Order: sequence, then structure tokens, then C-alpha cells
Amino acid sequence: MSTIHNHLLSDLHKDQLILEANRAMAHAYSPYSQFKVGSAVLTTSGTIYSGCNVENASYGLTMCAERVAVFSAIAHEGPHVRLKAVLIASDPKATTPPCGACRQVLSEFGDDSLSVHFPKGGVLTQISLSCLLPEKFVLPS
Ligand code: THU
Repeated sequence: MSTIHNHLLSDLHKDQLILEANRAMAHAYSPYSQFKVGSAVLTTSGTIYSGCNVENASYGLTMCAERVAVFSAIAHEGPHVRLKAVLIASDPKATTPPCGACRQVLSEFGDDSLSVHFPKGGVLTQISLSCLLPEKFVLPS
């Protein structure tokens, strides 16, 4: 966890997200896929939380790095936490957008403008959550 007091996604924030995502990626537990993923989220408080993927012998229990990072943000800041940005790192370096399940979870705690950064074709790309998930599920009232 690290705190920066600037609410715009500055180069400093981006560099810090890259650092924290890579740091978490080194902790990945992925003996089944051999694919390490790290993620870092920036909240509106200016704090960064990170996570890595955690696999299980019962494959379906595997948890993605992005959700670990989001859940850590909630554990530290509470249920009203809002996300400004999320960044993903992977090893081996591969195109790694957040999976569909993680997009839906991100949408619970971030606006349409949530800034999503992921490795694509060897470069870090940026896209808004609304582009990745144009139709999020909301509970009918
Ligand atoms: N994985 C993530 O952590 N995030 C994603 O967005 C996609 C997939 C992990 C889950 C599993 O441990 C491994 O990558 C292979 O699917």
C-alpha cells in the first residue's frame, strides 16, 4: 500500500501503479498455469493497493490479481471506496486485459471513466472501463 496526494492520474501515479503491480506479481501463486499476474488500483483517496493471482488445486477457486487488489482496497478503505485507475502486469509478458468477471467487479467500485491500463502487444495501453464493459449488470429494482 502506498499513498500519493494527487487525484489526477499523473505520470507519477502511473509509475507507482506499475511498480506496485510488478511487486505484487512477484508474489503470484500460480503453480498450475505458470502465469503470474499483478494488479494495482488507485483509489480516490490517492492510495494504491495491489494484488496477485492465487490459484488452487481445485481450479475454479482461482482468484485473479485484479480482484485481490480491489478487495484489498475495500478491506482498507471500506465499502464506499471508489477506484480511479487499475493497472495490470503479467509474466510472461502477454496481452492481459482484465477478464470479464473482473470487469464486472471493477464496475461495482469504479465509474465508466475508470482508467484501465494493461499490456497489449508489448506496450501498456489505456482504455476506459465503459469501453471494456459497455453493459454492466445492475440488480433490477
Ligand atoms: N488471471 C488474472 O489474474 N487476471 C486476469 O485478468 C486473467 C487471468 C490469472 C488467473 C489464473 O491464475 C491465470 O491468470 C491463468 O488464467
